[in-house]
Amino acid sequence: METLFLPASASSLGMASDLLRSGQLVAFPTETVYGLGADAMNAEAVLSVFRAKGRPADNPLIVHIYDRAQLADLCTVPSEAVPLMDAFWPGPLTILFEKFPAVPDVVTAGLPTVAVRMPSHPVAAALLKTCGLPVAAPSANSSGRPSPTLASHVLEDMQGKIPLILDGGPCDVGVESTVLDLCHGAPTILRPGGVTKEMLESVLHTEVALAGSILRPLRPDEQALSPGMRYKHYAPKAAVTLVEGDEKAVLARLKDLCGQERSAGRKSCVLCFTEHLDALRDCSPHDIGSRVHAEETAHRLFDTLRRLDEEGMESVFSEVVPPEGVGLAVMNRLGRAAAFRIIHA
Ligand code: TXA
Ligand code: MG
Repeated sequence: METLFLPASASSLGMASDLLRSGQLVAFPTETVYGLGADAMNAEAVLSVFRAKGRPADNPLIVHIYDRAQLADLCTVPSEAVPLMDAFWPGPLTILFEKFPAVPDVVTAGLPTVAVRMPSHPVAAALLKTCGLPVAAPSANSSGRPSPTLASHVLEDMQGKIPLILDGGPCDVGVESTVLDLCHGAPTILRPGGVTKEMLESVLHTEVALAGSILRPLRPDEQALSPGMRYKHYAPKAAVTLVEGDEKAVLARLKDLCGQERSAGRKSCVLCFTEHLDALRDCSPHDIGSRVHAEETAHRLFDTLRRLDEEGMESVFSEVVPPEGVGLAVMNRLGRAAAFRIIHA
């Protein structure tokens, strides 16, 4: 199949909308990461999303809408969700709802809940409005690769597999949406993202819980609240190790570790804050943004992980951010990229 790669415009949006309405797949930008969309009510179309990504059938998709009125066809809406939608939609918050039978089981991997979000990216919003469909869309990467934050990342993974990629430039947030469960007791974050625990608590006026496996691997006997958490994700080919501790000690340790790997003949580099580029100049430093802006690290993270593979890195050592605010989402993704290997300097 030929894959068209077009800048988002009135005509390419029209083409994208026609493709979605005829059961085909379109990759499009959102404010978090690029999504791979299909008509959520068309089970065949949704199945082809799983095929294009190589995604396990038991990992459910997020349904994207542009208007809250669309919820009436999809799910029941509990009253606690209303202030959250008022505060954070459109934006990077996904909420789980009890689904209606009309939503095909393939979308939710057989679960009784459906995950819904309203993206704020103007191209995503325009596409959803033009086609008028609820659109099921996981991140537009091949399963197991970092999520795409540039249209060129989508092309790397999806060329020949889908008919159209809409290029809307780099994604602003850079990590996927926050997934919030309101269906099983206390509000619980299943996946941290751009809408932080602190932001949710300020609207709900109650404590928001964190799923256990956000900052550590899932235990063999533990059930994943969100099926996606079971899978190895965001993993570059290199062995990634995180180094935490006092600033000076971390810098010294990063130099040591990188040097040792190189002496052993392995291609090695560090991921470090902008402020440390100079101190680590002999370790092929990759800039993960300022140490005081976790948003910058979120924005750059997936592109950086993809470049490690292109460069053929074998061992990578990274600084860490405090797991607060958007930093929690960064540490969840970085932690999983490192299989939660952390050294204390
Ligand atoms: O920002 C985002 O959320 C992006 C953009 C494209 O919107 N989408 C995205 O989709 O990251 P995906 O499929 O890569 O991640 C969806 C996550 C998975 O971890 C999945 O297990 C979880 O949401 N999920 C979806 N439906 C669920 C459900 N009913 N119950 C629990 N977890 C669910
Ligand atoms: Mg994904």
